[in-house]
Amino acid sequence: MSKYAAGIIADLIRRKPDCVLGLATGSTPIGTYRELIRLHKEEGLDFSRVKTFNLDEYLGIGMDLSKPYHLDQSYARFMYEELFKHINIKLENTHIPDGLTKNPEEFCKAYEEEIKKAGGIDLQVLGIGGDGHWGFNEPGSPFTSRTRVEALTKQTIDDNYEAFYKAAGIPKEEMPHYAITMGIGTILEARSAIMLANGAKKADIVAKALEGPVTNEVTASAIQIYKGDITVILDKDAASKLKNL
Ligand code: GLP
Repeated sequence: MSKYAAGIIADLIRRKPDCVLGLATGSTPIGTYRELIRLHKEEGLDFSRVKTFNLDEYLGIGMDLSKPYHLDQSYARFMYEELFKHINIKLENTHIPDGLTKNPEEFCKAYEEEIKKAGGIDLQVLGIGGDGHWGFNEPGSPFTSRTRVEALTKQTIDDNYEAFYKAAGIPKEEMPHYAITMGIGTILEARSAIMLANGAKKADIVAKALEGPVTNEVTASAIQIYKGDITVILDKDAASKLKNL
């Protein structure tokens, strides 16, 4: 999965060295990022002109060194540790919603503007959350939604608590309950995309998103109305509930 996904990203970078990538966090794309790092180190894949925009960030945390307590859990830190610090990308070309912004509304507008100024996203990397979200577009998010502050569902807090907080021993009540996320409308404007999912835990939601009704109760079902090229990369377990394979 990771090799295949990284191969698509690497092909684009070779074809268009100044391409704009939309990036995702979560455990699923880690292997893809490791493969990109390998391609950079062993095959000279050049990120020097690549620009990136991340889907989302928890509100209230970030890479502000004055808040070390929250440092390791931010998506900014995740991207730095899992990808950016290992490749020759210019950090000024990377964009991640600022979870510590004093004015989230203004920030979200500016984020949309930045994406436009960069020429739009050439390739968006997507996972899928347990409740069917893309980014942090929780059930009910309109398909026309743009970058904004979104309240996290209980399921998302439970899912992400394990990945980000258990290790650090931070109580669930102190986990951020809000996030900044690109909207479904923002994501649908990307010229192409890849969506990754693995494990039996994702089988039901993957089947709902790909074969169920198009509904903003499962925001990833917007994939069915997406007009760009999208490659869905699943392992056998995540694909096990699909009827039309
Ligand atoms: C978070 C992120 C999503 C990601 C999801 C799945 O909610 N905001 O962008 O797709 O986690 O995470 P995992 O890949 O760990 O299952």
